[in-house]
This record gives sequence, structure tokens and C-alpha cells, in this order.
Amino acid sequence: MADKPTKGLADVVAASTALSDIDGKAGRLFYRGYDIHDLAGRTTFEETAHLLQRGKLPTRAELAAYIDELHDGRALGALVSHNIPEIASKQKPMEALRSLVSLAGADDPDKDSIAPDANLRKAARLTAQQPLLVAQYHAARTGKDAPPEPDPSLSIAGNFLLQVTGRVPSRREAELFDTCLVLHADHTMNASTFAARVCAATLSDMHSAIVAAIGTLKGPLHGGANEQVMKTLESISPGNVAQAVREKLDAHEKIMGFGHRVYKTEDPRATHLRRMSAELAESTGDDTYYRMSKEMEEVVFETKGLYPNVDFYAASVYHYLGIPTDLFTPVFSISRMSGWTAHVIEQHADNRLIRPDSEYIGERDQKWKPIDER
Ligand code: COA
Repeated sequence: MADKPTKGLADVVAASTALSDIDGKAGRLFYRGYDIHDLAGRTTFEETAHLLQRGKLPTRAELAAYIDELHDGRALGALVSHNIPEIASKQKPMEALRSLVSLAGADDPDKDSIAPDANLRKAARLTAQQPLLVAQYHAARTGKDAPPEPDPSLSIAGNFLLQVTGRVPSRREAELFDTCLVLHADHTMNASTFAARVCAATLSDMHSAIVAAIGTLKGPLHGGANEQVMKTLESISPGNVAQAVREKLDAHEKIMGFGHRVYKTEDPRATHLRRMSAELAESTGDDTYYRMSKEMEEVVFETKGLYPNVDFYAASVYHYLGIPTDLFTPVFSISRMSGWTAHVIEQHADNRLIRPDSEYIGERDQKWKPIDER
């Protein structure tokens, strides 16, 4: 008989990976052996995606070639482009992305192959297309035919801000958002990555695995938390933070953006995001949400001993950057696409079906009766 299961698979090692590693006690995160503190603010998202998908930080020549591939891969196929307006009118952002990535798979020239070279090309295309899908969706739902043309001199981060806010971001804004994308790129066996790997392990294709991941990221206990953080901040009056938080905790409500399955101390990504939120509060001249966040952090720590996770300060950072609140989780998906695709590549390279056991807790020895006697 199988061992008693750990609820939520806590501490169960579900896969081997060379992509990222967490030291939950020390609050450290590594991508392929590089400390996140060394990468954040010094390595671009494009370099980070290359590191995850192609195994190493690129040289200048490798980066230039990868960026060219991303530019070429951005073009959306006819099926997905045609369907954006109707999907934008009927589906919320994460639902829409789930549909749009699925449709984009139909137009992908490598859709019928899971060979390593095809997977690398699809990983680049998915990474390039995700920000564009979000921008196109946002343009369509706000009554525009298309978002502003991307500027080839801008990064993925800079172009996303341009296309969603309609304003060319300052260099610093683009740098800060780029760092946000680096911080969210990969995170061991988080729920959406696990979902992607389970799907890939059936030898299904990369687009199917990414659709599973997007559906999983959507939930408020995972990627959906950043949007909920913003809604909480907006629902509380700035002078009433401590009392509002205590009331929620007394009512056994979870405070979104706090707690983590693996970190037992501060999430190292939150350290960077707190600093970015402070900087943007100062540069925008509006520190309300930063101050409220700091106060919430203090009260939650005093009352529950919980630390903020990646989603907590990401909310005020995205808000200061002018990103609409309901696009916060799609932003997470733009970044995590680099990690998800790298995990699919890794899973396909050394595959075994992921099929755990379950503990049966239902009735036994039931006596069958014909339908009229039940
Ligand atoms: N607010 C209030 N209490 C929290 C909490 C939060 N954000 N996170 C955990 N807790 C409490 C739980 O109520 C529980 O208390 P209890 O033992 O008295 O019942 C205890 O801490 C353990 O929580 P649990 O939900 O079982 O931990 P987990 O490891 O299963 O969950 C999270 C981890 C991240 C899902 C959980 O901390 C959470 O729901 N956080 C809010 C959502 C969020 O920010 N998600 C993004 C994660 S990056």
C-alpha cells in the first residue's frame, strides 16, 4: 500500500531539474546556479530566457541571434489574429490567453514535432508572442484595431509597456519592468510548471503544456494573487490599513501576497520588488500604495509571522508602471513563459510519464442494485 499522501504534495520531489533551485530557509533563488540577486537589475529578460531555454547566459553574438529569432517569432498566425476581437469581447484576460495560446499552436510551423530543435524554436516563439497577445487583447477590448507598433530598439519589457499603456516608457521604467520579468521567470516545481510538466510527460506538445500552465497560473493561490493584492489595496482606506488587515485575519481570510509553500523567510524576489515599489512611489510622486503595502507587511508579520511573496510588491510596481490591474497575472505569464517552455524542453529530453498514486478514501464492498431498486 502507498504511504499516506502529503496534502498538496508539500516536500514531495516531483521531478529533477537543472533550471532553478530554491533554498527556502535562507530565502535564496538560483537560475541554473546563478543567484537571483546577481541576475536582477544586471541581466535582461532576453538573456534570462536564453539562460533557461538554451542552457547558458548568451554571449553578445548569441544574444543578438536570439533577439532576432524573438523578433521573427513574434508574428501571429491568421487563426489567432482573426479570433482576438471576439475572444477579447467574451473572455477575461487569463481565459483569453488560454484560448489564444491554444489557437497560436494551430499556426505554429513546428506544431507536429516535439523534437529538441522544434521545441527550442517553439519556446522562442511562445516567449515572443505572449506579450503581443496580451497587448492585442487589451487593444481589442478597448476598441482599438491594434496596439502601437513595437519599437525595434526596445526590449520585450519596453515594448510591452509601450503597447499596453500607449506611451513610450522612460529608460528606467523599462529597466524596472525588465527586472520584474527576470524575477518571475522560473521557480522550481510551482503549480503551473508542474502542470506543464505533467502534460509534457504524456509526450503531448509544447502548446498543450503551456495551455495547462496558463489555466493553473490563473488561480488566486498562484499567479492570480498579484491582482488580488491590488484589489485589497484599493479596497482599504489608506488611514485604516492595520485595522482592515486585522479584521481580515480575525475572520480567517487569507491576505493575498503573503506566505509561501517553500520560503520560510523573505522571498528574495520580494526584496527587489519592495525596492522598486519605493523607487516608483518617489518618481511618480504618489507613495500611497507603497506606504499602505509597507504597513500591511508589518501588520501581517506581527500578527501571523508571514512574509510577503513575489506577488505582494509586484502589485504596486505594476500599478505605478500604468499596467491595468486585470493584466497583472498575464504579465506573470509573459515572464514565466520562459521557464515553462524550458521545463517542457527538459521534460521531453528525459521523459517518463508522471503518474502518481492516490490514497483511496471512499466506500468499499458496495452491493450493486438495479436502477429501480436504488
Ligand atoms: N494570509 C493569512 N494566513 C495565511 C496566509 C495568508 N496569505 N498564507 C498562509 N496562511 C496561514 C494559513 O491560514 C494556515 O494557517 P492555519 O495553520 O492556522 O490554518 C497556515 O498559514 C498554512 O497555510 P497553507 O495555506 O496551508 O500553506 P500552503 O503552503 O498550502 O500555501 C500559499 C501556500 C502561498 C498558497 C498560501 O500562503 C496562500 O494562500 N497565500 C496567499 C496567496 C498567495 O499570495 N499566493 C501566491 C504565492 S507565490
